[in-house]
Amino acid sequence: MYDGMTNPGRNDACWCGSGKKYKKCHLDQDERLEELAEAGEDVPPRSLLKTAEDIAGIKRSAAVNVGSLDYVAAHIGPGVTTEQIDQWVYDYCKQHDAIPADLNYEGFPKSVCTSINEVVCHGIPSPDEVLKEGDIVNVDMSTIKDGYFSDSSRMFCIGDVDPEWKRLVDVTKQSVEAGLATVKPWIHLGDVGAAVNKVATDAGFSVVAEYGGHGIGLEFHEDPFVSFVSEPGTGCILVPGMCFTIEPMVNLGGPDIDMSDPNGWTVRTADRKPTAQWEVQLVVTDDGYELISW
Ligand code: MF3
Ligand code: CO
Repeated sequence: MYDGMTNPGRNDACWCGSGKKYKKCHLDQDERLEELAEAGEDVPPRSLLKTAEDIAGIKRSAAVNVGSLDYVAAHIGPGVTTEQIDQWVYDYCKQHDAIPADLNYEGFPKSVCTSINEVVCHGIPSPDEVLKEGDIVNVDMSTIKDGYFSDSSRMFCIGDVDPEWKRLVDVTKQSVEAGLATVKPWIHLGDVGAAVNKVATDAGFSVVAEYGGHGIGLEFHEDPFVSFVSEPGTGCILVPGMCFTIEPMVNLGGPDIDMSDPNGWTVRTADRKPTAQWEVQLVVTDDGYELISW
C-alpha cells in the first residue's frame, strides 16, 4: 500500500479486526486510496483509521468528557472562579476512572483550559480569576480513559453579555455546525475548514490561523492538522474511521494573536478584543460523520 502497510489476501481476515474477509471489508476502500495516492492526493495512512474497537473506546472516553462539560454547564455562573471549574472537572474525571488529558500535558499545570474574553486559548485556571456578569468563557476539556482520548470545548456566557459578543459566540458555534455538515468520506479536509471560515468571515469576524483542529483517539494530537483558514479541494482526503476535531478560534476584531504571556501558555488577541471557540470531535462514517464529543 501507499503507506507501506501490506494488504491481507482477498480471503484473509481484514486488517481492521472486523473478522470479515478482506474482500468483503476494506479491500475496495484500500484500492480507492491507492488510486488517489497515485493521482497525487494526500491520503491518510491506515494508522489514522480507527477500528470499531478503537471507536468504542474513544466513545467511553468522550462520555466522561461530555459529562464533565455538562457538569460545568450546570454550575458555572457569576462568582465562580476558574480554579473551581478546574476542581470540578478533576473530580468528575476521578469519579469516572479517567484522567484529564491537559494535566501535565507538555507541562500544562491544570486539568482544563479556561479562556475568558480576549483569551484565545490555553487560559490557566486560577483562584484569583472570578467570573463576572458580561464575561464570555471557553472551557476546553480533554479526557483519557483506558488510553483513549477525547476533546471538546464550549462557550459560556456569564449573565447578560454585550449583544455583539453574544453574536460572536453564536456565529462561532454555527461555523462549527457548517463544518460538520460538510463531513463525509472522499471530500478534502480543506472543504471543512473553508465552510467554517465562510460562516465566521461572512459575519464580519476573523479566524485565527495559527491554531486548528487535529486528529485524536489513540493520542491527544494526531495528524491531520485541521486548518480553518483553508481552501476547498485542498488537504487530505477524508476516509471512514478518521477521528478529528473541529475547533475554530474566531475573533471579533483582527486575526492576530499575542503569545507573549510569560506563563508560556495564555494566548490573547493582539487587539485585546474578545474571541470565541467551540470544539467538537467526530469520526468519519461510511456516509457522513458521527459526533463523538461536544
Ligand atoms: N484541548 C486543547 C485542544 O483542543 C489542547 C489543550 S493543551 C493544554 O487541542 F496543555 F493547554 F491543556
Ligand atoms: Co482539540
